[in-house]
Amino acid sequence: MIWVMQIYLKDVAKYTDQEVTVRGWLTDKSSKGKLHFLKLRDGTGFIQATVFKNDVSEEDFELAKHLTQETSLAVTGTVRADARAPGGFELGVKSLRVFAAPVEEYPITPKEHGVEFLLDYRHLHLRHRKPWAISRIRDEIQRAIHDFFHARGFLRFDAPFFMPTAVEGTTNLFEISLFEEEKAYLSQSGQLYAEAGAMAYGKVYTFGPTFRAEKSKTRRHLLEFWMIEPEVAFNDWQDNMRLQEDFVSYLVGRALENCKTELEMLERDISKLEPTASGNFPRISYDDAIKLIAEKISGNSLPEGVDTLEPVPWGEDFGAPHETTVGSNFDRPVMIHSYPAAIKAFYMQPQAHDARLAACNDMIAPEGYGEIIGGSERIHDYDLLKSRILEHGLPLEAFDWYLDLRKYGSVPHSGFGLGLERTIAWICGIPHLREAIPFPRMLTRMKP
Ligand code: 4AD
Ligand code: MG
Repeated sequence: MIWVMQIYLKDVAKYTDQEVTVRGWLTDKSSKGKLHFLKLRDGTGFIQATVFKNDVSEEDFELAKHLTQETSLAVTGTVRADARAPGGFELGVKSLRVFAAPVEEYPITPKEHGVEFLLDYRHLHLRHRKPWAISRIRDEIQRAIHDFFHARGFLRFDAPFFMPTAVEGTTNLFEISLFEEEKAYLSQSGQLYAEAGAMAYGKVYTFGPTFRAEKSKTRRHLLEFWMIEPEVAFNDWQDNMRLQEDFVSYLVGRALENCKTELEMLERDISKLEPTASGNFPRISYDDAIKLIAEKISGNSLPEGVDTLEPVPWGEDFGAPHETTVGSNFDRPVMIHSYPAAIKAFYMQPQAHDARLAACNDMIAPEGYGEIIGGSERIHDYDLLKSRILEHGLPLEAFDWYLDLRKYGSVPHSGFGLGLERTIAWICGIPHLREAIPFPRMLTRMKP
């Protein structure tokens, strides 16, 4: 094989009418007389390569005829712009070389397969178009997260994953036994550590995997998910909401700008995402959300996917159908604030005007995607925090260091946690979180 330029398919447009080599895998093949059509992928993109009998050696034409799905190969040929070709380009093949043919028939054929089957073969299914597009969007969002915070002077701060205590309640803690009698828990949230970081560096964010023993099977819960948790000294709960709004509108804007191809492959209706990119998220109180839910029930105007709905008595938490109902009322995320303190975490600052309420908010995504952010101002008074820890039945000795943060120059501060997979599922328009992460961990799935 003569030496020619080796390219990646994401750059193919730069090589129109030039001879290039693409290294990749065969995804599909069809033949018609003197032509073989090879569908190729190289990890960065997809293209169709046309093998015309008169353009290649006899051996290569024979080789092309017998290629099977997922054969790895190098193809040399001329890049042709072709408006009819998917992606706008095709490759006119001159020669080809096989690295390895599959030793067995590839299990995922172009026909339809069930979800569980595809999850069993997740390690291979990642090669296909839909997971490819989702993974690209996930990557873009992760970069955008770092860009957003770095541009604003935040320090990335790493919280530990082994924890001495619970952060978000004790019901979904994963307990692990360490040495001897000692126990630890897998982190449900890096927040408490981020608070130490905020007092040390002003503005920080954590970004890492988070673990929750969710014992029910839902499309919104994973056992292992990634969370981004900024924490800012001197920010109150209103500043916190402004930061969330800027953050989420930036992330969606980046996806719209840099992931057009991927969103198109997923057939995502981007008109549903566009309002989010321009900010101006509505804010409603918990009380008003209850009223809105009651109106929707009495007006019999429940959104798609919600068949029946119970009104929420004051003091109770919203379920997924309530979130869907409130979220569907708006064309962009809505922030519900000032929940009753009793249904929220121990560390939340009470509202100045009414101590029954917490200075907190959740962000609810539209289109039924539910809560993507939980956040609040934190209690900064030593005595109040100590009494809340005791009221919640939490072991004081595990929180001595956390209380220390209130002993030495305590200041109001706030922060939030954004669930990465929920955000990606919403942006991609996929119904279940399991597709938003390469290898999902769920009640019913630990493999591959
Ligand atoms: O609302 P949560 O529990 O808040 C916290 O953990 C706070 N400590 C955050 C903070 O203030 N620093 O969780 C935050 C977000 C949720 O809004 C949701 O998007 C996501 O984490 N989340 C999950 N995502 C996938 N699977 C699960 N089991 C999740 N539980 C929460
Ligand atoms: Mg929450």
